[in-house]
Amino acid sequence: MDELRLVQVADLHLGARQEHHLDNWLKVSDWIVRERPDLVVVNGDLIMGDPDNDADHAFARSRIEQLPVPCRYLPGNHDIGDNVVSGKMAKRVNDARRERFLKHFGEERWAFAKAGWGFVGINSQLLGSDGQPAEDEQWTWLERTLREQEGQPIALFLHKPLFLDHPSEPDHEDPTLRQSCIDSVSRTRLLDLCRRHGVRLVSTGHKHQTRSFSLDGIYYLWAPSTACVNSPPTTLHWGTREVGFIDYRFRRGGFDHRIVGADFLFRHENYIRKYGSASE
Ligand SMILES: [Fe+2]
Ligand SMILES: [Fe+2]
Repeated sequence: MDELRLVQVADLHLGARQEHHLDNWLKVSDWIVRERPDLVVVNGDLIMGDPDNDADHAFARSRIEQLPVPCRYLPGNHDIGDNVVSGKMAKRVNDARRERFLKHFGEERWAFAKAGWGFVGINSQLLGSDGQPAEDEQWTWLERTLREQEGQPIALFLHKPLFLDHPSEPDHEDPTLRQSCIDSVSRTRLLDLCRRHGVRLVSTGHKHQTRSFSLDGIYYLWAPSTACVNSPPTTLHWGTREVGFIDYRFRRGGFDHRIVGADFLFRHENYIRKYGSASE
């Protein structure tokens, strides 16, 4: 049977001089070496600290490129800055930061078809980024790409979840919640395209929480981080507070998934190390 085994890793948070989570990445790498999936999708927050730190990008690249399988890359807020500037990431996405990511990882969006599915990855950090030309370019590319992939189920990958509770929710006042998901205008436009062109799965990272549900014919999967969990246990959470990654198998007519790693990775509690200034 024609099948694509796709492993999504997200929120690796690798840093040149911040090796807090490298132990987990080495365990994930060992697992991938043993299991040999067809493809690894690296869904954002590859680096730990600073979107302007070339050394962090180079370090993350040097670690990820040791994997013996093809990888596709998408950026997160730690890699290229955020669309919502907040204490979580006080740097805004811009062309220079995108160029740095492109220099190290070679892409910020992509599309391909395999095993009866269309696969599309986009740069979530450009959504709602205040009229940057690159945002318009991506919308144009996405509309054309989804049209081209139509006729088969489509899996969409991006770093940030589309919403926290429901697609109809307004933009959150609290900056931490606001930067947790896509803004309402971009979300409405994106979901309209998803429904029109047959998107069946939206696979995201960013929240360092595991969650899976379906709504109106679309499955939404939040991937855990391979690195750590964030925020104190008493903080409001939407998904399960665990570490790990997603092992997908796509085939004509459907897909399977399982969350892997919670039983063999360290559940690093990021807030303990950064007590008083947690970062996501
Ligand atoms: Fe993250
Ligand atoms: Fe993130």
